[in-house]
This record gives sequence, structure tokens and C-alpha cells, in this order.
Amino acid sequence: MLGRLNHVAIAVPNVADAARVYRDTFGMGAKVSRPVRQPDQGVTTVFVELPNTKIELIEPLGPNSPIDKFLQRHKAGAIHHVCYEVEDIVAARDHMRALGATITGNGEPTIGAHGKPVIFLHPRDFNGTLIELEQV
Ligand code: CO
Repeated sequence: MLGRLNHVAIAVPNVADAARVYRDTFGMGAKVSRPVRQPDQGVTTVFVELPNTKIELIEPLGPNSPIDKFLQRHKAGAIHHVCYEVEDIVAARDHMRALGATITGNGEPTIGAHGKPVIFLHPRDFNGTLIELEQV
């Protein structure tokens, strides 16, 4: 069911500082995007294009960001989720649900940071790892 690793998301207290590390320290230059505010997601994102996947740096945006509590527990930042590609998000959702996995929110796919439909699987079912599935 799972396709490629689309991205690894890292929650950070300051996305501009985190982007600078990838742009300058790691020398990724133009492979590091500008910060993009995503009010619907409650985050500001920067993407880093690697040869085989992406890194998604996410900073809380607005008062009720879904990553606020996570960053309170991990003040310096931490890996927040991994995103795998799937061909059919509804089929993947129904499959996971039938196996007893918990889909976060109301279970309906939402439009993620890349403009594609996504769902999130609760970490309790996956060894403590929040998993995003994205239809590509
Ligand atoms: Co993501």
C-alpha cells in the first residue's frame, strides 16, 4: 500500500532559523524554499528538496496550532511525522480503518501542504510515530 517516503516533518521553534541551517550549514542553497504560511494547517512550512525525499520544517502559526503541545514537550524541535505516498487516499483510509487504526480528526481527507489530499494516522497504533498518508 505504501509508496515513496514523501517527506519527514520536523517541528521547529523558528522556521527561518531552521531553514538557514539547511541552506547554509548543509549547503542546500536554492533547494530550501521560502517560508509559506498555511493558516488552514496552523503552521508555517519550509521544504528542503533532497535527491530522494523532502524535509518539511514546520513552525506553529496562530493560537491553536496542532504542533503547539508537541513543541512544548520538545522545546528545541523534534521529528513530528513521516509522510508516505499512496495512490488512493480514500482506499487507504478505509483499509487502515478496517484494521482498527485511528485516523485523526473526523477521518475525512484534508488538503495538505502540497495541495494534495492527506490523512494522519494516530501515533498510538504505529510505535509512537504520527504517519501522514498523501495521495500523489
Ligand atoms: Co507533512
